[in-house]
Amino acid sequence: MDSFLAALWVGREGRVIGVDMTPEMLDRSRSMAARLGLDNVEFREGLIEDVPVEDGWADVVISNGVINLCPDKIGVYRQIYRVLRPGGRMTVADICLERPVPEEALHDIDLWTG
Ligand SMILES: C[S@@+](CC[C@H](N)C(=O)[O-])C[C@H]1O[C@@H](n2cnc3c(N)ncnc32)[C@H](O)[C@@H]1O
Repeated sequence: MDSFLAALWVGREGRVIGVDMTPEMLDRSRSMAARLGLDNVEFREGLIEDVPVEDGWADVVISNGVINLCPDKIGVYRQIYRVLRPGGRMTVADICLERPVPEEALHDIDLWTG
């Protein structure tokens, strides 16, 4: 969803690259882009621990519910720094914890699902 909104925001001269590790999400995203007639967005298969985007390419990096799934957060932030141009920005809409989760809460599925 974020990639489609970004594609609208950047306009016809801008470009958006969406990255996901699953072929299913990539198929879904590509067919949605085609249905919406968005030709300034492309989807690449890859891990955000090794983003398939060249150095300094992006003005903005967005994560919506992805960084929080990755154990190697420092590695992911290094990748974000690598792909951002100098002065670029990132925006994150992820679950963040400021203190350790108690053991009993870790195993309570109702606390982790909507
Ligand atoms: C909660 S969904 C968020 C999807 C997207 N933000 C949206 O609005 O549709 C998490 C997505 O992250 C992908 N993902 C999880 N870990 C990843 C990783 N290390 N590298 C690339 N994609 C990953 C999953 O395949 C899944 O499609």
